[in-house]
Amino acid sequence: MRLLVTGGAGFIGSNFIHYWLKNHAGDFVVNLDKLTYAGNLENLTGVEKNPHYTFIKGDIVDPAVVEKAANGVDTIVHFAAESHVDRSILEPEVFILTNIVGTYVLLEAARKKNIRFHHVSTDEVFGSLELGTTEKFKEITPYDPSSPYSASKAASDHLVRSYHRTYNLPITISNTSNNFGPYQFPEKLIPLAITNLIEGKKIPVYGDGKHVRDWLYVIDHCRAIELILLKGVIGKTYLIGGSTEEISNVEVVKKIITLMGKDESMIEFTKERPGHDRRYSLDWSLAAKELGYKPEHSFEEYIKKTIEWYQRHEDWWRRVKSGEYQEYYREQYGV
Ligand code: NAD
Ligand code: TYD
Repeated sequence: MRLLVTGGAGFIGSNFIHYWLKNHAGDFVVNLDKLTYAGNLENLTGVEKNPHYTFIKGDIVDPAVVEKAANGVDTIVHFAAESHVDRSILEPEVFILTNIVGTYVLLEAARKKNIRFHHVSTDEVFGSLELGTTEKFKEITPYDPSSPYSASKAASDHLVRSYHRTYNLPITISNTSNNFGPYQFPEKLIPLAITNLIEGKKIPVYGDGKHVRDWLYVIDHCRAIELILLKGVIGKTYLIGGSTEEISNVEVVKKIITLMGKDESMIEFTKERPGHDRRYSLDWSLAAKELGYKPEHSFEEYIKKTIEWYQRHEDWWRRVKSGEYQEYYREQYGV
């Protein structure tokens, strides 16, 4: 296969590129990434010299850039997005541009060349579930997004589905739960908690901390996308979730604190996030039945491995937190 991966310098996209080139050594990957604050070419160390890998710095909102990047490609895996809810509350505009307009531009390029299009989306499009219930999101759950981030992702999902129904574009969509693992930008809860503790800083927990997320180890996500690309039914959406029992934010933070030998005085309850969704939980039985998907990395074990990864890669996240990582690609690539 010849893949165009968008947003491949971000957290999940870079894990996916490592995963794909390791497991499909004969394939070719083009990585199109704007290198926003969230894009970091240091996430791709070891890959950049692979002759099957090409990096293009560019914006998915620009049709000329996208058309060029899509030349000779048979599959697009679309990760590029503004991905942080808190930023979308402060500055929604770039979310509308990248997540909605950018997806439209990619769809147009795919339509002209009839390229298979896999769209990476989120469970946040479904809104919030009640605490203390056993209700789960399903593929048919109506969309009800709460933040500018989730609303922009919802809009992009609708566009992708419409290109299948209207133009017969071969698409698939995955809506996944909260990922964690190596190379996650330390603005998200888990890497923020780990790196703050190493730095001796407190961990901010929003509101009462009883909000529940369905945690998914990033490699399970990569495997799920692989299954969808290889076996997924064209036109379909698959929900992909993790294997955790329901665990609240404050429990996640306490677990990290215990594993790192600190105490609960490191928790700082802060004011509530506006529009904060209470609970996410996914029913991934369709992906299990049709694709043989099953999360293989337990939260219990992989939260420990994730902590160890951040402890071993202090240089990586310190450069991210200080902003130095943006110098790296200027030096290496002159971009
Ligand atoms: P991220 O913020 O770590 O990375 C996003 C990447 O996209 C960065 O490399 C950035 O430079 C690039 N990018 C942003 N705007 C761009 C543009 N206009 N043109 C080209 N590149 C651009 O995000 P992530 O956590 O890796 O998420 C990847 C995808 O997965 C997103 O679509 C997100 O909505 C989805 N998702 C994420 C999670 C999660 O827990 N992180 C869960 C479900 C779905
Ligand atoms: P986050 O990692 O931002 O992912 P998302 O908002 O996409 O679910 O947040 C995960 C949960 O942790 C969410 O309920 C918000 C909460 N949170 C905090 O309590 N404190 C923080 O500093 C952050 C970043 C998140």
